[in-house]
Amino acid sequence: MIDRRAGPNKDQGNQFVPSDQAAPPARPKILATYPMPARVVEKLRSFADLTVLDGETDPQRVLDRCLGMDALICTLMTKVSADFVERLPESVRILATYSVGYDHVDLKAVDGRGLPFINTPDVLTEATADIAWLLLLGAARRGWEAQSMLREGRWIGWEPTQLVGADVYGKTLGVLGFGRIGRAVARRAAGFGMKVLTFQRRPGSGEPLPDHVELRGSLDEVLAESDFVSLHLPLSEQTSGWLNAARIATMRRGAIVVNTARGGLIDEAALADALGSGQIGAAGLDVFVGEPNVSETILAAPNTYLLPHVGSATSSARDGMGLSLASDLEAFFAGRPMVSQVDTAA
Ligand code: DGY
Repeated sequence: MIDRRAGPNKDQGNQFVPSDQAAPPARPKILATYPMPARVVEKLRSFADLTVLDGETDPQRVLDRCLGMDALICTLMTKVSADFVERLPESVRILATYSVGYDHVDLKAVDGRGLPFINTPDVLTEATADIAWLLLLGAARRGWEAQSMLREGRWIGWEPTQLVGADVYGKTLGVLGFGRIGRAVARRAAGFGMKVLTFQRRPGSGEPLPDHVELRGSLDEVLAESDFVSLHLPLSEQTSGWLNAARIATMRRGAIVVNTARGGLIDEAALADALGSGQIGAAGLDVFVGEPNVSETILAAPNTYLLPHVGSATSSARDGMGLSLASDLEAFFAGRPMVSQVDTAA
């Protein structure tokens, strides 16, 4: 049988070669900027030639390694600017980010170049919602101070006035951003007897609201009526520095702020001032402006519970993120539709 898909064989002029001697279809070449979980590497290697860098974040060095690659898997540690997209080698036909958030990617540039772009929604929702609750409870109940006191040998025994924190049960939680993660955080609040306030741009869209969730007319109204607020907005030009001094001044005195979304949503200097004055009672933060550096003002502020961006750090979430990218990449190279393609024109 003649296999016409194999194309002409250079050594034999324009004769077609029999299928039992035909070259197998070319495997796509994929570059990943960071080591990934074993199951993800195994899945990618099942259909592609995979090159894994050792945590490369420098845009120029990533670009250099993209030469001859068909796909790039980066993380939020690589700034995919317009310049980066313009200088991506022609061979790169698809871009993937090992994250659900994509504020590090210039979507307009990606769209302009006609590059399909995929991310990792859904699979990290529950893990991230759990971390929001760790932050909420850790901030409210002075978890870091308590740990430090115990580990540093400063605990001299139970005292009636020692490490007194804020009540959580029965309080009001404002969920700012009611997407997948915001909803998962709100769901957990039912077990704490909390009322949840939120704002939806298009009320009535999506799943019906649970009984303990009430809508307000704006994010600002939610902010002003809550004892706790948890941020779940995407970072964009419109939301950059959203929680600023003016908004903090409208909050209930002693309210507690939780952020598992992006550091840039908060004006960190304003938050640190408010923690110092007691306007904000405590803050639980997993994300920071300028990560991995954390500003001295935040580190020095009182009543914080800080984590190094671990919202999605469970094995099922991190495996799920990579496996979702891998199955979309496999689909792309096989000419099938992908599940998590970002609408770059939106
Ligand atoms: C994301 O996916 O955007 C998180 O910030 C990291 O898991």
